[in-house]
Amino acid sequence: MLKIATIGKDGRTDAIAKSLIESPRVGEVVSLSDGKNLRIPEAVEMVLKRAAELRPDFVVVGPEEPLDAGIVDRLSEAGIPCVGPTSALAKLESSKSFTRELLSEHRIPGNPEYKIFRNLSGIEPYLRSLEGFVVKPDGLTGGKGVKISNAHLFSVEDSVRYCEEIFRDGHDAVVIEEKLDGEEFSLMSFCDGTNVKDMVVVQDHKRLGEGDTGPNTGGMGSYSCEDHRLPFLSQEHIQEASRINKLVAAALLEKTGQPYKGILYGGFMITGDGLRLLEYNARFGDPETLNVLPILKTDLAEICAAIIHGTLDQVPIAFENRATVCKYVVPEKYPENPVKNVRIDCSSVPPESSGLKIYYAAVDKKSDGLYLTGSRALAFVGIGRNLEEAEAIAEEAASSVRGPVAHRKDIGTHALIQHRVDHVKQLQKRNVRKPFVR
Ligand code: AMP
Ligand code: GLY
Repeated sequence: MLKIATIGKDGRTDAIAKSLIESPRVGEVVSLSDGKNLRIPEAVEMVLKRAAELRPDFVVVGPEEPLDAGIVDRLSEAGIPCVGPTSALAKLESSKSFTRELLSEHRIPGNPEYKIFRNLSGIEPYLRSLEGFVVKPDGLTGGKGVKISNAHLFSVEDSVRYCEEIFRDGHDAVVIEEKLDGEEFSLMSFCDGTNVKDMVVVQDHKRLGEGDTGPNTGGMGSYSCEDHRLPFLSQEHIQEASRINKLVAAALLEKTGQPYKGILYGGFMITGDGLRLLEYNARFGDPETLNVLPILKTDLAEICAAIIHGTLDQVPIAFENRATVCKYVVPEKYPENPVKNVRIDCSSVPPESSGLKIYYAAVDKKSDGLYLTGSRALAFVGIGRNLEEAEAIAEEAASSVRGPVAHRKDIGTHALIQHRVDHVKQLQKRNVRKPFVR
């Protein structure tokens, strides 16, 4: 029987662990981390020490920080294989300039108009040359570094000052790109270095408030459809995104000489001008993983073993034809000043079933109940024949949590999805001549 270890303490890692333990070939799933900041060297050493004691057959890494910190390199040196890329390959997420250049050098479609700056020279005229722009620090920023004109930056002067701040904070580069308009979606693929196999496309909701208002968050919830498409996407768009993930895996192997073993998560946007790549993540998405793993028919442990051995081509991967809606319950005043150390009452939450999955994220389980620890707390995933059914299940569960918490009622509802469909239609009407990727 396999002993598998995970790294991470979030809803995504809980979903990975629960999916692995369902496998008949897995005896035990252990955690190598306790939720500490996994970038600090002491945390890396602690993980290595625990791995040496527990000797798992392999490790699955949840979040990005330990990947960037080189945990996979260190565990591999210690003879413990991992599902997750080495730090050189995790640059796909940790360095936005690396990824833009990778696509450009290998003529992979999907880049917006962009430029990379290693100092302030030339930034101001470039900002003035773009109609709208996005400023991205190179390096991990916990999702908080990307700033968009007219949303976070209201003048060229302020934007130049923001770039100064980025360099002062020690980032090596700033990526500035054209501001795109469209609908975002995520396509995650399993990758063993040469073989790439897709999961189901999912749409996340980054903004805190209903109707996509308020600050950005880690992701308030997400949905996927029973036909494995999204209502605003054509099959060609999904195929194009899939092709980009495959081309990126091949480009990484060519550029670094190392096989990328883990999850390739493409964050795409469908614009009036075709498909664009916004970012890559080098790991499972949170919440997207909570949508796809409960409907994965294939044994996740078998997929992980195939990633490690480079035999993913021999594993047929299938998902149930069911719709999923995930809703995260978050503390009041999240993300700026979240309520913490307060107990929540889950006594009215319906029990887990084949139609409802519950995942534990930023909560402490104490003898008298669950306590909020300041980030996304609990995720409820409704699974049904269609979105309406899945949404009703997730909504009933999320709204039954009592305490100083909030969630988005609109995720997965017909009204919000229709809005997204209309948005894409309107953009495409304006751009009838250029339907696909440039
Ligand atoms: P990133 O970390 O690069 O994905 O950026 C975070 C978020 O910023 C994305 O999920 C988008 O909502 C937004 N974003 C990133 N790049 C662009 C762009 N070029 N145009 C418009 N929005 C963007
Ligand atoms: N869903 C956003 C992320 O995983 O980064």
